[in-house]
Amino acid sequence: MTAPLYDALCAFARQDGLRMHMPGHKGRAMTPLFSAAAIDYTELAPTGNLYTGEGPIAEAEHLAASAFGAAAAYFLTGGSTQGVLAGLALCALPGDTILLDRNTHRSFFSAMALLDLHPVYLNVPDADHVEEILAAHEGIKTVCVTSPTYFGVVADIAAIAAVCRRHGARLLVDEAHGAHFSFVGRGPCAAGRGAAISISSAHKTLPALGGGALLFTDGSFPPALVRERTAMFGTSSPSYPVMASIDWARAYLTGPGGEAYRRTAEAVAALRREINSRGVFHALTEEDGLVLDPTRLTVETSCAGLDGRRAAALLAERWHIWPEMDNCRCVVFILTCCDSEGDIARLAEALRALEEAAGCKGNRPAEALPPAPPEPEQRCSVRAAVFARRRTRTLRDAAGCVSAVSVAPYPPGVPVIAPGERITAEVLDYLARTGYDMAAPVDVLEEGVGTPWPKD
Ligand SMILES: Cc1ncc(COP(=O)(O)O)c(C=O)c1O
Repeated sequence: MTAPLYDALCAFARQDGLRMHMPGHKGRAMTPLFSAAAIDYTELAPTGNLYTGEGPIAEAEHLAASAFGAAAAYFLTGGSTQGVLAGLALCALPGDTILLDRNTHRSFFSAMALLDLHPVYLNVPDADHVEEILAAHEGIKTVCVTSPTYFGVVADIAAIAAVCRRHGARLLVDEAHGAHFSFVGRGPCAAGRGAAISISSAHKTLPALGGGALLFTDGSFPPALVRERTAMFGTSSPSYPVMASIDWARAYLTGPGGEAYRRTAEAVAALRREINSRGVFHALTEEDGLVLDPTRLTVETSCAGLDGRRAAALLAERWHIWPEMDNCRCVVFILTCCDSEGDIARLAEALRALEEAAGCKGNRPAEALPPAPPEPEQRCSVRAAVFARRRTRTLRDAAGCVSAVSVAPYPPGVPVIAPGERITAEVLDYLARTGYDMAAPVDVLEEGVGTPWPKD
């Protein structure tokens, strides 16, 4: 396994040089918390520089581009959040209108506030809908799609990219949950399938440290500009252990990790079949008419009379199994190359026992994905709302106000109410039905509605 950055840091640490530089721990593992301290360096000739693209970091990025199938790859230590901010700063100009699916992570709303971008929403992220909207709004030159979603649902990126190209627009894909796709037979990352930019959280589905992510491009952006934009939204002291872990994960996945990941995909397929054969809970499968991440397990429990939040609580209490996400309908589990056969068998056994313990019966048609929120009523730009003078209300007392913030159950962090939108009675009903805490505070605009929303 060759991992140039990880290898260079280990080799440099072995030289036992006197560290008259940061970080302050000086490479000493004073507690197990600092177990990566020996390779936790700063920018030096042997360690390279992320923001100038020098040394072993550039070598490691080059290998990542080729493994993930993009023209260029850039390491991020601030997660996909940093990639979304940098990606939009590369694709769009302040004041632009962008098309984005509503099922989008809150980082896009931060980007819209910072860059003064105006949203037009795509309710169904498919090529026909993108075509329809781009034909109706000639000014839109940036399209953003999330694929896969938190539930593992995959969009047809090549088809959407072809539509974008015909309209002279760039496609940016939030592939935060799909860093493993290239290693489970799903081909190149989105930037290798027609998107201008795609962003993947290595830390979500690869064996990489928290915050490790990648920004891929199709090669159409000058590298120095990409580095300038990623630096703009990142720390000037990026973590070397985090970068080395992205490098190591890539090396592992192109070696034995790929096989391990494919075994996990097979085990998930078998587990989905087993769950569905009992007819109590329902595991989302491609027979539901969706293209799915082969390793993401979304199990609807509400069809058997068990609220997904209660199911997740029971799994934690009784079986010490901690799912990634739950909502009133379903529970979502992230499985990766690091889950052993024994881990997957333990999950399968707990789900079977949960069906029995909760006295569940499969008595309603399955509908794992949550219902879509009501159409938003945009009253002012995201930027005007985020930076307006505000006051705090409880959500249940905020009907009629204009929100200054995203109201986004986390996970998945997808705003039900975005900054600048009116908090209507319908949206409050929706939040109450999906179990949101209606006593939670929400910041609303103090007065008026800020800058009028530019309709085009
Ligand atoms: C779809 C999606 N995009 C982007 C992000 C942000 O990723 P990160 O936590 O790596 O910053 C998340 C985080 O949950 C996400 O679910």
